Amino acid sequence: MARGYPGTMAFPQTRLRRLRKTGVLRDLVRETELDVRDLVAPMFVVHGADRREPIASMPGVERLSIRHAVEEAAAVAALGIPAVLLFGIPAAKDDQASGAYDEEGVVQLATRAIKEAHPDLLVITDVCLCEYTSHGHCGVVRADGEVDNDLTLELLARTALSHAEAGADAVAPSDMMDGRVGALRAQLDAEGRSETPIVAYSAKFASAFYGPFREAADSTPAFGDRRGYQMDPANAREAVREARLDMEEGADIVMVKPALPYLDVIRRVKDETGMPVAAYNVSGEYAMIKAAAAAGYLDERAAVLEALTGIRRAGADIVITYHAKDAARWLQTQ
Ligand code: PBG
Repeated sequence: MARGYPGTMAFPQTRLRRLRKTGVLRDLVRETELDVRDLVAPMFVVHGADRREPIASMPGVERLSIRHAVEEAAAVAALGIPAVLLFGIPAAKDDQASGAYDEEGVVQLATRAIKEAHPDLLVITDVCLCEYTSHGHCGVVRADGEVDNDLTLELLARTALSHAEAGADAVAPSDMMDGRVGALRAQLDAEGRSETPIVAYSAKFASAFYGPFREAADSTPAFGDRRGYQMDPANAREAVREARLDMEEGADIVMVKPALPYLDVIRRVKDETGMPVAAYNVSGEYAMIKAAAAAGYLDERAAVLEALTGIRRAGADIVITYHAKDAARWLQTQ
């Protein structure tokens, strides 16, 4: 009883809820904005003249040859999405991941073509070896079956430099090798690329939600798994430590990945590092909503906007999501 104001029946919460139905007030009291300018659209690029290959577990996402990637970039830019994140699938894979740092590699070619056609669209490139190694691991594998951290660092740094030279606006190392941010920073600086920012996949968990991506990139490890270099889903404090280390090594933006099962980690990394935080709403998170919506179990639009708002509310400044184009359209007509 003590909560009511004298002489009225309405409780403040009830009044606020009623007023919130009017758009202007709703906007005034809203704590979190989901804005198209916070989104990044991932893209898979392949060699070839005229390829558009659907990815079965990711309806609406395709592997695109360069010409189609440029068209897709135009569609992304026209919707007001500021950036794309490029993943390459090379024509051939080998144990040294040579396609990753080839000047004529698929990401390098796509970056040049997209930047030429759409100079204002930011191109961020994923820097990792797993799409390029014959065995699908994120680094060079020694005879004993373990990833060779230091040799891998050299190749990652070469890869990042070649992306920057192709015109990438930022590079995003996703491999989780120790010391990779520092190695990339040193190499970029030494080659006159000190302006190129690093978006570090700092807290990258060993997750079941990468399954569809591995189908898309054909990068499922041929043996073993990635638990040797990706994080235990049970650890949040460790994620904060990883983000701090990346920060000390020169990361400009830190990333938490996946997003939805790790909202608490996003919040902690944001609060405890004060860095700009990106969250990656990964392939499996996308696939879940798409599958449920296709089965008629969920309203896709409402579910996507709620999920992306939740990621922003948790503290992400940037949301990398395969829903980016749909969300951008829906946000225009909200
Ligand atoms: C590794 C990488 C992965 C993703 C982005 N970068 C997959 C992995 O570790 O197997 C996954 C992204 C997604 O699932 O959408 N280069």
